[in-house]
Amino acid sequence: MSTPLVIVRGAGSALVLTQDEGGALPHVVHWGTDLPDAVLGDLAHLTGAPVPHNQPDAPWHVSVLPTSGQGWLGTPALEVHRAGGRTAPRWVATLEGGDHDATVRATASDIGLDVVVRYRLDEHGVLTVETELTNTAAEGEPVDVGALRAVLPLPTRADEVLDLTGRWCRERAPQRRPLTDGTWVRTGRRGRTGHDATLLMAAGTTGFGFRSGEVWATHVAWSGNHEHLVERLPEGAGAHAAVLGGGEALTPGEVRLAPGETYRAPSVVFVHSTEGLDGITRALVRHQRAQPGYRTTARPLVLNTWEAVYFQTDLDHLRRLADTAAAIGVERFVLDDGWFGSRRDDHRGLGDWVVSHEVWPDGLSPLVDHVKGLGMEFGLWFEPEMVNLDSDLVRANPHWVLGPVAGAPLPSRHQHVLDLANPDAFAHVLEAMSSLVAEFGIDFIKWDHNRDLHEVVRTDGSGTDRPAVHAQTSATYRLVDELRRRHPGLEIESCSSGGARVDLGVLERTDRVWTSDCNDALERVAIQRWTGLLVPPERMGTHIGPPTAHTTHRHLDLSLRMLVALGGHAGLEWDITTCSADELDALRAWSALYRELRPLLHGGDAVRSDHPDPALVVGGVVAPDRSAAVFSVVQAVSGRGVAPGVVPLRGLDAGRRYRVRVRSEAGLPAVIQVHPPAWWDAALGDGIVVSGAALGEVGLALPVLAPAQGFLLHLEGVDA
Ligand code: DGJ
Repeated sequence: MSTPLVIVRGAGSALVLTQDEGGALPHVVHWGTDLPDAVLGDLAHLTGAPVPHNQPDAPWHVSVLPTSGQGWLGTPALEVHRAGGRTAPRWVATLEGGDHDATVRATASDIGLDVVVRYRLDEHGVLTVETELTNTAAEGEPVDVGALRAVLPLPTRADEVLDLTGRWCRERAPQRRPLTDGTWVRTGRRGRTGHDATLLMAAGTTGFGFRSGEVWATHVAWSGNHEHLVERLPEGAGAHAAVLGGGEALTPGEVRLAPGETYRAPSVVFVHSTEGLDGITRALVRHQRAQPGYRTTARPLVLNTWEAVYFQTDLDHLRRLADTAAAIGVERFVLDDGWFGSRRDDHRGLGDWVVSHEVWPDGLSPLVDHVKGLGMEFGLWFEPEMVNLDSDLVRANPHWVLGPVAGAPLPSRHQHVLDLANPDAFAHVLEAMSSLVAEFGIDFIKWDHNRDLHEVVRTDGSGTDRPAVHAQTSATYRLVDELRRRHPGLEIESCSSGGARVDLGVLERTDRVWTSDCNDALERVAIQRWTGLLVPPERMGTHIGPPTAHTTHRHLDLSLRMLVALGGHAGLEWDITTCSADELDALRAWSALYRELRPLLHGGDAVRSDHPDPALVVGGVVAPDRSAAVFSVVQAVSGRGVAPGVVPLRGLDAGRRYRVRVRSEAGLPAVIQVHPPAWWDAALGDGIVVSGAALGEVGLALPVLAPAQGFLLHLEGVDA
């Protein structure tokens, strides 16, 4: 016997929960495509499983908090103990909700625990699961929390797994495998999200792609240690086949709940799509765009000084850089590392957030005033959670460095971590940053974080080392939140040696991410495509780097660099005072194109092709009402055929006609052909007008591009 079903729905997806009598923990009957109410009533009956040999004597379910007590012998959702004992809670639960929300409340009075699991499925199809655990005992031993995970069941047809890995300058590389028995777990223990963090753990039907297949995906919204897992046991998962989920990766002793205390696990989001990975992205992007406080104003074209000048922050040079930037249409000038304390290289001065008198005898005002006088916003680089040991801050406060009593942990990029959970250290950084923001009217902070964390422990009042990633991550969030509260217009970019802090936890409180330190446009094609699984283009920093990429030494044409930088929040990171007149003309036209297309580029739904030859990468955005679209076509390396063939442009309105133009302001490609395809010359002029059905089902015969070349197609719906 089951109580009535609780159904939460949104954007064609549904989560259906039910509960056996006697207050058992509820379980998921169905997570997938929404179904009519009348049909849902049959589900529990239809999915009642047999009792196989050598298994528990009655059918069991993967509950909302699966552990061995209910039959699940895979990774438990909850791991707790009180001084080594009382590890097997007997829950008495309630289930309520409907529409978009459901809540499970469970009590294990025998061992003094309460759990609340909240499900919210929004109108964009994103299911957010929030779980909290409270030690309800009035006294006694604390509750040690080893894990509190959110998991959902998967059906048998989800038989492939996709996740992402990476490293510095090569973030978000996809990896796929069959979903077989065992646990595929991606644990991040870097004290930050990590270059290798998987933005999503996705399971789907055989061969699922960007545009096809049924996919179930999850993401842990947290910038500290975390894990994503998919797990299948030979006996399955109750009436389902496997589970998918994740949570914070806690170190032993990290979360110890005293009587009355509560641990709130990071939110874990889940998305289901019947339209491949693009359906997952559409839900996640629309979900983010709908959050309160999401920046909806135009994302200004950026010039960041890092690859232009590095630590050579000479005022006259920077003024000329600003002049050139303003002349080509840049709207925000960002001064990167090296403006403060003794920071003339990356060995010293980190943590001393005072303007260097050595470099800026008259302070920062001459530059800030110049930039603002040119009509641009001013942005400044900080790395608030880090210090060099060779800094005034550490000399005055050596105990603020995070690490064991036994001695400082390994240095990395010559730097150490500031113990932000120390209230004095926190207050010091907050005041230093806040007063600079106020003094110079700073519009934008590039918030960097340049190392993995090792031996992340802080010393408590008794002189004992305590695990500290959770406390450090929470303190960082508090610092961002307080700065934004004090300076409501302030925008913040999450940078971490490039893209090592990209997750929905940090994106809840920042405006964009620095996608990668690799500004090589060819590498960026893949990095941006896969970062875009989760991150809307307007939140992804995409800059034009120098002709020879600093991190790969590859020389690339300006046309490709301009094209790829249009894939996100565009900018430049190049000493453009060295540009020729032709290059500046090209950049001026490109910046005008960015401003013209910005509402579409930053407001549409992602469409990515599944072209069989990975050398050809086609992708773009289509306006939500499908009235316009932009596609970029990139020939990364030479194609495997003589010509790329006819490539469909998906996601358009089949019933409309579109004017298709090649926008030369994004750069024109070098080609290897005797004649271009029939449509090309007209598309370079007024455009060709063709139906969405023909473009989507058949497509365009592409020109034969030389390797590392590409072009931009702009489609506008025309009235019939
Ligand atoms: C790493 C960042 O990713 C770079 O863009 C730059 O800001 C440097 N840090 C500065 O040290």
